[in-house]
Amino acid sequence: MDPHLLQSVLDAVSLPALAVGPDEKIAAANADALSLLGQGIVTRNYVTMLRQPMLLDSIESTLRDTSPRETRYLGHDGDHDTTYRVTCRAAGDSGCVIVCFDDVTALEQASQMRRDFVANVSHELRTPLTALMGFIETLQGPARDDTAAQTRFLGIMQSEAARMNRLVGDLLSLSRVESDQRVRPTTQISLLDVLSSTVHALQPVAQKAKVTLVFDPPDHVPTMIADADQLRQVFTNLIENAIKYGGEDNTVQVTLAAADRDPALRAAGVRVDVTDHGPGIDPAHLPRLTERFYRIDNHRSREMGGTGLGLAIVKHIIHRHRGRMRVTSDLGQGATFSVILPLVP
Ligand SMILES: Nc1ncnc2c1ncn2[C@@H]1O[C@H](COP(=O)(O)OP(=O)(O)OP(=O)(O)O)[C@@H](O)[C@H]1O
Ligand SMILES: [Mg+2]
Repeated sequence: MDPHLLQSVLDAVSLPALAVGPDEKIAAANADALSLLGQGIVTRNYVTMLRQPMLLDSIESTLRDTSPRETRYLGHDGDHDTTYRVTCRAAGDSGCVIVCFDDVTALEQASQMRRDFVANVSHELRTPLTALMGFIETLQGPARDDTAAQTRFLGIMQSEAARMNRLVGDLLSLSRVESDQRVRPTTQISLLDVLSSTVHALQPVAQKAKVTLVFDPPDHVPTMIADADQLRQVFTNLIENAIKYGGEDNTVQVTLAAADRDPALRAAGVRVDVTDHGPGIDPAHLPRLTERFYRIDNHRSREMGGTGLGLAIVKHIIHRHRGRMRVTSDLGQGATFSVILPLVP
């Protein structure tokens, strides 16, 4: 095959691509293939240059019988691994095999995330379900005539069932928030009203936890375009966390301020800070905090009935409003969760 023509065709391919000749040498490669596989590969034997056995097998077989083949190639890009779907196809009756590398890392990651998510959900549901099944067995057997035990077990069963109910509720609201991620909110709302009513609704929760919840509303806050129900959910999650993790006899402070030009948004925006004086968060955990089911202290969070989905929901809602969330915290220093929202998303 004319080497110039071969080279120009490979140069026009938008993926890393190379050609292996009938003499088993790499006849040509485009620039993307050279940066993926090494600059000196052309004219060398493909077996010494490509090395990964699955890829070598495919090329060898296609050279022999000209049938197309597909395989995987594991690459390395800076500090992360990449996965390529590789196709080997015979180029007419030239005896050459054209090898193309398609980067499928993002796809693989997405399907890995989906698998992890299903595994996590199953695990989260199985724990309370196992407890329920255990208690049902006990109530049918050993505790059949023990009214005191029955009352106690039914109480536990109720709280386990409530946890499952919360988990399903949170999963549904996560999927709802995700599905309207691309739809911008359209209603004019008063953030001051939303925040005041949220704080008001949480006062009993704070009292029960022996926490003082303070909100000093500013005199004037401009109205904004937002989804009031979703923002109520954001502030409920953040204030509930501050109450839960801030601990007894502490204060949780909520502040609201508007700025003509917020530095994080480079536009007019409002900023809500929720501050607690609890144990704080090790900065090492901060980047992962909004991942689904991520909890710093699994046991403690579960004990408090947490599903580990609160901040994931918060993140999606803020994202839909084109806002930002900032967390400032250190061990022993309490934590401040800041939500910065543009007046017009
Ligand atoms: N104010 C805070 N102080 C210390 N740790 C916090 C604070 N807020 C959140 N965290 C940590 O972040 C984790 C994730 O929070 P998130 O709200 O997503 O889940 P959760 O509170 O465990 O459960 P859920 O909110 O779904 O009931 C918590 O388990 C906790 O470890
Ligand atoms: Mg929470």
